[in-house]
Amino acid sequence: MNILLTGAHGQVGAALQPLLEPLGHLTALGREALDLADADALRAAVRRHRPQLIVNAAAYTAVDRAETEPALAETVNGIAPGVLAEEAQHLGAALIHYSTDYVFDGSRAEPYVETDPPHPLGVYGRSKWLGEQTVQASGAPAWIFRTSWVYSLHGANFLKTMLRLGQERDTLNVVNDQWGAPTWAGSLADATATLVRKARDSGDAAAFIRQHQGVYHMTNGGATTWYAFAQAIFSLRPECRARLVPIPASAYPSPVRRPANSRLDNRKLAETLHVTLPPWQEALQRCLEALPPISR
Ligand SMILES: NC(=O)c1ccc[n+]([C@@H]2O[C@H](COP(=O)([O-])OP(=O)(O)OC[C@H]3O[C@@H](n4cnc5c(N)ncnc54)[C@H](OP(=O)(O)O)[C@@H]3O)[C@@H](O)[C@H]2O)c1
Repeated sequence: MNILLTGAHGQVGAALQPLLEPLGHLTALGREALDLADADALRAAVRRHRPQLIVNAAAYTAVDRAETEPALAETVNGIAPGVLAEEAQHLGAALIHYSTDYVFDGSRAEPYVETDPPHPLGVYGRSKWLGEQTVQASGAPAWIFRTSWVYSLHGANFLKTMLRLGQERDTLNVVNDQWGAPTWAGSLADATATLVRKARDSGDAAAFIRQHQGVYHMTNGGATTWYAFAQAIFSLRPECRARLVPIPASAYPSPVRRPANSRLDNRKLAETLHVTLPPWQEALQRCLEALPPISR
């Protein structure tokens, strides 16, 4: 199976590469080789590589900066996934695409299910919701995996920021009234690769994906706040000695409001595709195992 992976150097893209490689002939392209802002280049690349499966791990993920670059965010997150899906449809191929908890406004009291109506609070969330719609409008067989609070030891994310500031600062204010599931890029990659293997082993990956196509919530299990997530990180890394102080989101200046409730219900993924990601605490531990041990 020919697989084309975009965003190969991002958190999820980098975690996917070694897991997708054994599953077929993988072409993994970063932004320097394939720019999602260039629709013509995108169409030409898909036609050149003729994949049976496209995995789109590329995205404009700078949530705050998107407020001042709405056109670029919309092109990369909204239009480009639709172009990839259209090209997949012409080739008889399938698409795996990722979306976000930020398509919701966070006002629901319970975890969100896939059928809840999106209502994004900012440019990033709107651009990602547009991407879901352009993919679905293409008619291509597609899985759209909505995830949340992604971290890894690679790239810029909350975990990396806490590991750094935990050593630099005496005290650290962390938001304690936003709830979600921290999701390790390694868990997302594992789950995705498991599903790609199932699709490949069915004999017709595109038909398999079409049979189960649609939006799925895909996060590590459980839920917490940023503050409690930071506490868990610090408990595993004693070199992080800063005193953690819980604060409300209203005390943390930001150009865009984040959802207070980012919890995504993963039951559809478990019941339909038979995949469950580990609890967030277990995933965090596994992620941190790759760091050198600390002498206490
Ligand atoms: N990060 C999160 O907390 C989070 C939460 C929910 C959902 N998601 C979704 O999960 C997916 C994977 O995100 P991630 O965490 O792996 O993000 P990431 O680490 O920011 O990776 C995204 C990758 O896309 C690349 N990219 C940006 N603009 C591009 C363009 N015009 N053309 C080609 N590549 C481009 C980036 O390259 P540069 O590094 O050069 O910019 C980066 O390598 C995305 O769909 C994202 O929306 C992420």
